Amino acid sequence: MSKYIEKDADNIHEIIPQIKKRFSPRAFENKPVEKEKLFRIFEAARWSPSARNVQPWRFLVGIKGENKVYDRIFDSLVEWNQNWNNNTPVLVAIIAKTTDDKERNHATHDYDTGIAVAQMTFQLTELGLHAHQMGGFEEVILREYFKISNEYKPIAIMAIGYKGSLDDLPEDYHEAELEQRTRRDFEEIVFWEGWLEK
Ligand SMILES: Cc1cc2nc3c(=O)[nH]c(=O)nc-3n(C[C@H](O)[C@H](O)[C@H](O)COP(=O)(O)O)c2cc1C
Repeated sequence: MSKYIEKDADNIHEIIPQIKKRFSPRAFENKPVEKEKLFRIFEAARWSPSARNVQPWRFLVGIKGENKVYDRIFDSLVEWNQNWNNNTPVLVAIIAKTTDDKERNHATHDYDTGIAVAQMTFQLTELGLHAHQMGGFEEVILREYFKISNEYKPIAIMAIGYKGSLDDLPEDYHEAELEQRTRRDFEEIVFWEGWLEK
């Protein structure tokens, strides 16, 4: 049996492999991600749809050992997230511009950015990589380190790398890593006959 954890979606209807195979590990291999792959991941984000084609997504890319960007993004994570990111080779701060090019409020900045990030996750899965998004970070710290103005909104941090094994992860996190992935039933999220509030 492979020491790598498999957590394929237990889907009831057929889906594309990039969605079936995607999951958010905490165990990452201590191995760099090829630059060419990173370019392809951000290219997937670039071609994402957005309201009025404003393209509000911005990505601050930290590569472990290359410069201070990685260390600063890492510092902004809450301790609980820092502790499982011991091996993560790439940390990306996902930031949305809240205004368009004419300084008008862009109401869908976070929605648009979320779509772009979803496209990234499918592309990186196709490249044999995994990602884990984190809302657990200190926005104030990130803003201060990188001098991010109020026109921009830090949304999340994304860990990207090659999936690891339990040996790559502190013991406190093993149980969660082995836990089955669950989803709400279809009936709870899809409505065919009017809005059926429960
Ligand atoms: C916006 C967002 C914030 C998240 N924040 C955290 C986090 O701070 N720490 C963490 O370990 N996981 C975090 N997650 C991961 C989710 O817990 C995970 O995606 C969810 O349990 C579903 O699992 P799956 O991605 O493997 O399908 C976050 C995911 C998203 C999309």
